[in-house]
Amino acid sequence: MRVGILTGGGDCPGLNAVIRAVTKSLIRHGQCEVLGIEDGFQGLMEPLPRVQALDWQRVSGILHVGGTILGTSNSANPLRDAATLAQVGRNLAALNLDVVVVIGGDGTMSLAHGVAQATGVHCVGVPKTIDNDIAHCERSFGFDTAVTTAAEALRRLESTASSHHRVMIVETMGRHAGWLALEAGLAGAADVILLPEIDYDIEAVAAHCRAREQRQRYTIICMGEGAKARGAALTVREQVAGSPDPVRLGGVGHVLRMQLQPLLASEVRTTVLGHLQRGGDPTPFDRVLATRFGHHAAQLVVQRRFGQMATLQHGRIGSVPMAEVANVQRTVARGHELVTMARDIGVCLGD
Ligand code: F6P
Repeated sequence: MRVGILTGGGDCPGLNAVIRAVTKSLIRHGQCEVLGIEDGFQGLMEPLPRVQALDWQRVSGILHVGGTILGTSNSANPLRDAATLAQVGRNLAALNLDVVVVIGGDGTMSLAHGVAQATGVHCVGVPKTIDNDIAHCERSFGFDTAVTTAAEALRRLESTASSHHRVMIVETMGRHAGWLALEAGLAGAADVILLPEIDYDIEAVAAHCRAREQRQRYTIICMGEGAKARGAALTVREQVAGSPDPVRLGGVGHVLRMQLQPLLASEVRTTVLGHLQRGGDPTPFDRVLATRFGHHAAQLVVQRRFGQMATLQHGRIGSVPMAEVANVQRTVARGHELVTMARDIGVCLGD
């Protein structure tokens, strides 16, 4: 069998661990040739496909290395128009691939599903995102690493916040889902956690900070990039997408600073963690999870269970149809156990 592997969408710690596990499992199974497709779907959209042979040697020594040896792209859309899709079809035929293992988020799963339907080349999926927002999957690899990085940042900022008696706002990634802000905030002992799923009331946030001004004299706020104030029509992320000058608009953490500063005696500062959360080496947890996903994807290939995505549910590795995952996002429910627990231990959720 000839098997292609591609990594699509934003990079994520653990991608190389998946590539390694898929390749080694297929080589050990025998009668499989593995090709790495470069820069996600982009490597299939050009007049000549860009691929590299993946053998045992090529995927050795990459388990713990961040990023992806294949490169990725989050703007390449193979379904963009009929001509592009036809080119992808010609390239897949020229490469003589039986199946492509697609490692990506909900958007990439949707593209893969569309390509498979249009070209007849089978796909198998592996869920990837630091946002942890893929449907039917309780943990995607990369999330643990991002939480670890963000939680460490929160702890580091606490010493400077307490020394200067300041309010520190830390903005995390996560798109429209609050998982990263929630777990990083809990692990990093944030006093206020603001999520995209729960619109915040600026007065409630200010009241919490003022109460702390009297006692602890500093406050740490962890907010997801998709969070917005109650009554605001758009998140800052949505405003940035439509803004002629996105750089000047800044991030949601800067907006909160502007809203909060006039209401407080303490100085307010903002740190946007940005791509630091996607960079670096995966944690041991993510190395193991990514390896489990990669191994399972290889099993799906050899068992010819095409159109399935590897998943983790109730701690067990399994699979779900890719079509059920495409373009669906898993967000934090207001009544989620971690949200209730955060409230119970005195964390302000901003409402
Ligand atoms: O989906 C992963 C993610 O890192 C989001 O958390 C973030 O909003 C987005 O990608 C950033 O994308 P880019 O790297 O294109 O700025």
